[in-house]
Parts: sequence; structure tokens; C-alpha cells
Amino acid sequence: MSSTASGGAKPTVTITLDGSNRSATLPLLSGSIGPQTVDIRKLYGELGIFTYDPGYGATASCESKITYIDGDAGVLLYRGYPIEQLAEKSDFIEVAYLLLEGELPNATQLDEFRKNVTYHTMLHEQIRRFFDGFRRDAHPMAILCGVVGALAAFYHDNLDINDARQREIAAFRLIAKVPTIAAWAYKYSIGQPFMYPRNDLSYAENFLYMLNAVPAEPWKNNPILSRAMDRILVLHADHEQNASTSTVRLAGSTGANPFACIAAGIAALWGPSHGGANEAVLKMLAEIGTPENIPQFIREVKDKNSHTKLMGFGHRVYKNFDPRAKIMKETCHEVLAELGIKDEPLLDMAMEMERIALEDDYFVSRKLYPNVDFYSGIILKAMGIPTSMFTVLFAVARTVGWVSQWKELIEDPSQRIGRPRQIYSGATQRDYVPVSGR
Ligand code: ACO
Repeated sequence: MSSTASGGAKPTVTITLDGSNRSATLPLLSGSIGPQTVDIRKLYGELGIFTYDPGYGATASCESKITYIDGDAGVLLYRGYPIEQLAEKSDFIEVAYLLLEGELPNATQLDEFRKNVTYHTMLHEQIRRFFDGFRRDAHPMAILCGVVGALAAFYHDNLDINDARQREIAAFRLIAKVPTIAAWAYKYSIGQPFMYPRNDLSYAENFLYMLNAVPAEPWKNNPILSRAMDRILVLHADHEQNASTSTVRLAGSTGANPFACIAAGIAALWGPSHGGANEAVLKMLAEIGTPENIPQFIREVKDKNSHTKLMGFGHRVYKNFDPRAKIMKETCHEVLAELGIKDEPLLDMAMEMERIALEDDYFVSRKLYPNVDFYSGIILKAMGIPTSMFTVLFAVARTVGWVSQWKELIEDPSQRIGRPRQIYSGATQRDYVPVSGR
């Protein structure tokens, strides 16, 4: 394979098949930042060969203007703005506008957007009845996935994905209603009455209100906790072409409605290698039990036969540090201080594990660092949010990212149905043998 770009000509890559005189010259594409990318669309037509990249470690599945990650430098940008600045200076609603629309809103646009999102926070009363159909011990992710998918049955007026206004209303509905569904999934599991959304509160405050308030008592907002919740939402709002976002895009490429696509994203997020990791971190810390057991646990993680992973460590893209983890760690200390929690054994254990792992050659040589989920679970636990709700909360935050990516996909004229190829390694053609002859 050779690459050329001389005399103002567009850069190309030439691939030559060994042992033949056949070659294909393919365009080399450049984004605004990030590595160059070979456009292989004509490869099969010209050379009759596919590319192989399980896990898509070197494959760009789309062109996007939303989020940029430089995993080696630990950089995360939403529409060009560093996550650190957004986490410190912005809030979730403004970030949601930024992700969806591409620019920061002016005061009027922000006000309008906030109103549009809050206007849609209530659920159709018949959706309420769905909850009764679930077992009390149902995982809230199962409820979220089911009820979000079912929204399509209620909003026939915005299922035409080719109509920009309908896409916009679907976006508002999803961003506004997912927190209500999430909070009700929790209330259902603990047998408390559902709390209807309060549109006088901010997005994060309203979510905490629906989770924690009860009709019998007044609810008091704690600004430090709602700020921490807002920050968690900002940090998780989008993350480029991760597994759940790619799932949303793949479903969207078929022309499926937005509610179905987001339900697909929620399903993909549920896995412990992805959004389920913050839940898994707390389970892991609880299983380890005490700091004395950490060295034994680390030995187990390093043993290839054990299949044990240090949850909350490692990332497909970040091979230096996860910038969100840094902010999360600071927020974790703020929340524990606000709540007067001086000795949190889980935090002590997490910090000790981080210290040991960052000195251990196994983790250093594989560039494994704490990811966003290593600390988020401890914050959420301190805020009284049960472990089973952690991934749900992640889904609440990521909904805006999924919707932005879905909208970008639908508005991209080059989009086609997603349809990967394969290396077939099964039996070659053979004749059927009746059961009596086998
Ligand atoms: N603990 C122990 N070893 C690990 C871990 C871990 N958490 N993560 C990766 N490794 C090892 C692998 O076993 C592999 O070792 P090898 O080269 O000796 O075979 C090496 O590091 C490279 O790992 P890969 O599996 O190639 O990394 P990949 O990019 O495929 O996986 C993933 C990334 C899924 C995040 C992985 O690091 C992991 O499972 N981490 C724990 C789960 C987790 O925290 N997930 C949250 C991700 S962030 C998010 O979704 C918000």
C-alpha cells in the first residue's frame, strides 16, 4: 500500500494485490482534525476484496461534526468546545442545544429551547399504565428500553423522518420525556408514587425532584447536588461513535423512527463493557470488600485465565487519560464534602486501586487509565441513587447525543443503510443429507 499527494493533486492511497498486477487508487480524506482516512468504497468494485476490522478500531463509519476525541492527548470536544470548559461554565440544556444545533445559543435561542424541552416533559397518561405490567424487581434499564420504544405508538404525528419539523419535535420529546420515564422506573421499583415533572425547575433539578421527592413532604433542592447531576449529564451527553451511538445510527440508517432508534441505543448502552460499567464498578468494590484484598484482586485481573476486569478502567479510544474522569473525581470530592461524608470506604478503596493500578506495569503498558465511570458510581451512591439506576442516568444524559447523531445521519445526503460485510469461514456449499443418512 502506498500513499501520494504531490503538486496540488488530491492525496490518494494505492493498494496493490500481492502477486498480481492489479491495484486500486483510493482517495485519502481529511477531517478538520484527526487522522486521514482512506475512502475504501470502491475497493470491492475495483479489486474484489473487503477490509476486515472487527470492533471498528480503524474504521470511520460516518462523517460527523458533533464530537471529537483525541484519545492519546485526552481531549474531548463538543462542537469544538473542550469538555472541561463546558463542564465548568455551561449547563446541560445549553450543551444539548450546542450538540443538536452546532453553535452555542444566544439568550433568546436558549430561552426558547429550554421552553421547548420543558413543554414536553409529561408522559401520556396511558404510558403510566405500562409500568404496572412490569415486575417490581424489573431492572430499570429494561423498563426504560421498553417504554422509550413504545413512545412511537403515541406520536404518530412525528414519525416522518423526512420532515425536519417532525424530527425536531421528536428530539424535544425524547430529551424531555426520558428523565420522566427513568424516574418513574425507579419509583415503581420502590413502590412510591410517580412524581409529575416540574417545569419551574432546571433539567437536573427536575430529574432529582422526580427521583427523590414524595407527595407527603416538601422537596428541597440542594444546589451542590443538582450542579453535580448537571455536570454528570454534561460529561455523558455525547461521545462520538461509541457502541450505543453506532447502534442508534445503524438502526436510523434503515429509516426506523427515532423512538425505536433511541430504544436500540439504550439496549446497547446496558452492557457492562459500556454504560453498565459504573454499576459494575460499585459491585466490584463491594465484592473486594476491604483494601487488604486489593492486591489479590489485581493479581486476579492480571491473570488471563480469570476473565476478571478492573471495571472503570480502560477505554477503546482514550489511551492516556479520560478527561471526563478527572472532572468526575473533583465532583466526587465536592459532593462528599457537601454531604458531610468524611470517610467513604468505597472512595478510599477506589483511590487506592487507582494508585496501585497506575503504578503497575500491566496497566501502564496497556495504557489503561480510569474512565468516566470509575468515579461516577461513587458520586451517585453518595447522592442516594441506587446502583441499578446508574446506567439509566447515563441513558438520560446520552439521549441528546444519540438524537443529535441520528439527526445528523438523516440529514446527510450520503447516508445509506448500514450493512457490513464479513469473512465467511463456515462450511462451503454441500448437499442436504436426510436424517436417516446422517
Ligand atoms: N481490566 C484489565 N485488563 C484490561 C481492561 C480492564 N478493565 N481493559 C482492557 N484490558 C486489557 C485487555 O485484556 C487487553 O490485554 P491483552 O493485550 O493482554 O490481551 C488489553 O488491555 C487491551 O484491551 P482491549 O480489550 O483490546 O481494549 P478494548 O478497547 O477492546 O476495550 C473496554 C475497551 C471495553 C472499555 C475495556 O477496557 C473494558 O472492558 N473496561 C472495563 C469496562 C469499563 O470500564 N467500561 C466503560 C467504558 S467507558 C464507557 O462506556 C462510558
